[in-house]
Amino acid sequence: MPLPIAELHLHIEGTLEPELAFELAARNGVALPYADTDALREAYRFADLQSFLDLYYALMAVLRTERDFEDLANAYLARAAAQGVRHAEIFFDPQAHLARGVGMETVVEGLWRALGSSVQNHGVSTRLILCFLRDESAESALATLDAATPYLDRITGIGLDSAEVGHPPAKFREVYGKAAALGLRRVAHAGEEGPPEYITEALDVLGVERIDHGLRCAEDPELVERLVRERIPLTLCPLSNVRLRTVDTLADHPLPALLDAGLLCTVNSDDPAYFGGYAGDNLDAVRDTLGLSDERLRELARNSFLASFLEDDEELRAR
Ligand code: ADE
Ligand code: ZN
Repeated sequence: MPLPIAELHLHIEGTLEPELAFELAARNGVALPYADTDALREAYRFADLQSFLDLYYALMAVLRTERDFEDLANAYLARAAAQGVRHAEIFFDPQAHLARGVGMETVVEGLWRALGSSVQNHGVSTRLILCFLRDESAESALATLDAATPYLDRITGIGLDSAEVGHPPAKFREVYGKAAALGLRRVAHAGEEGPPEYITEALDVLGVERIDHGLRCAEDPELVERLVRERIPLTLCPLSNVRLRTVDTLADHPLPALLDAGLLCTVNSDDPAYFGGYAGDNLDAVRDTLGLSDERLRELARNSFLASFLEDDEELRAR
């Protein structure tokens, strides 16, 4: 029996497995520039975050209808459930779809067809987190929040993702302020490729409650102390860090040091179809390669529920 966990850092578009990409391409009459799934998998060799993002956005071309988003989410939930995920807080990137002429309604309604029945169908409770693309303008983020207003009963929070360096959190001060006023929870990717200062800025300017990745906090002992003191969770993604070369090898990952420092770390999958593993695979990898004890693994599982946006009573039931 896998350890029950909550997944807190998961881009639904990053769960698009090559087999489903080809199936949706055929269904929608979209031509893919790869001969077959093996040829597509061959392209999964990334030099950095941007080289991954280029493929990630290109493959989204196959996602066109509500049914596509429903199928994508159901495929993820089934795989996640099999690996012990009992609760998933799921990112989506509406700007990447709106730019292709796929509306907010198609995306949210489609995802909701799967998420709305996920407890019954998969035994996984869910939350939806709308991410803004930080390499798009602040005005575009504001327009995206406006477009999401009719669906806020289905959206728990906002996040910030895409190319980090050169796009500091403060660029999104206004949209985070508006989202807070609407009662939305706030998270942001920071310190994945960007410097530790982006983590501080996400906390101080955007008021985020969790840091996605946050890996580079390890370079700044005072920041680590602050994160410990304020109990700010990090949603770490070890296999992603290896594939995007933010760490040299898994054995070099700072997870054990961050846990030893007292940080509230969680282990997540980010874009599992691209990075070689779902949530349970990430836990297995850190156990095997970093030698984490059973006690440490139980701590990571406990942290995942503590850091989630579940209410206290829901949290206990999900565990
Ligand atoms: N979008 C999807 N995956 C991402 C990642 N690891 N970092 C930033 N943006 C992303
Ligand atoms: Zn991410």
